[in-house]
Amino acid sequence: MDKTKILFVCLGNICRSPSAEAVMKSLVDKNGMSNSFEIDSAGITGYHAGEPADQRMQRHAINRNIRLTSISRQVKSPDDFKYFDYIIGMDDQNMEDLYSLSPNDKTGKISKMTDYCTQHTNTSVPDPYYGGAAGFELVLDILEDACEGLLNYIEQDGK
Ligand code: 4NP
Repeated sequence: MDKTKILFVCLGNICRSPSAEAVMKSLVDKNGMSNSFEIDSAGITGYHAGEPADQRMQRHAINRNIRLTSISRQVKSPDDFKYFDYIIGMDDQNMEDLYSLSPNDKTGKISKMTDYCTQHTNTSVPDPYYGGAAGFELVLDILEDACEGLLNYIEQDGK
């Protein structure tokens, strides 16, 4: 069976989307489903391309046993929109940018991370870059909730 391919997207691909990638990989691994998924992340901008995740984000994630290993890259259009089944933005600006980058016939693959939350009422994963520790914790809280919801959604949706 084909793998379900998921691309998480934020602005810089050094805080939120690499965390989403790592949280989702950890979750599918815990469920013994790693072989059924391909999970990646990318940034709307390439400002941090080639860099590992933000040190602060890495430290907060490690406290939850989540290791951030991905290296930042920019979203590629049209290739990413053709290749991935789910393209998931973190906030409304990401969504707007993804819709404008996407080929017209691929916009149905785009969704927002918080749409999968069942515990949190946040309507975006807030950018933690210029804030303090609480912002990084909130990112991880929302992502853990959303990834659970996303996995349930995919299991029901079939793809
Ligand atoms: P991210 O956070 O989009 O969650 O990776 C940011 C990282 C870098 C910048 C902004 C947001 N920046 O302005 O460099």
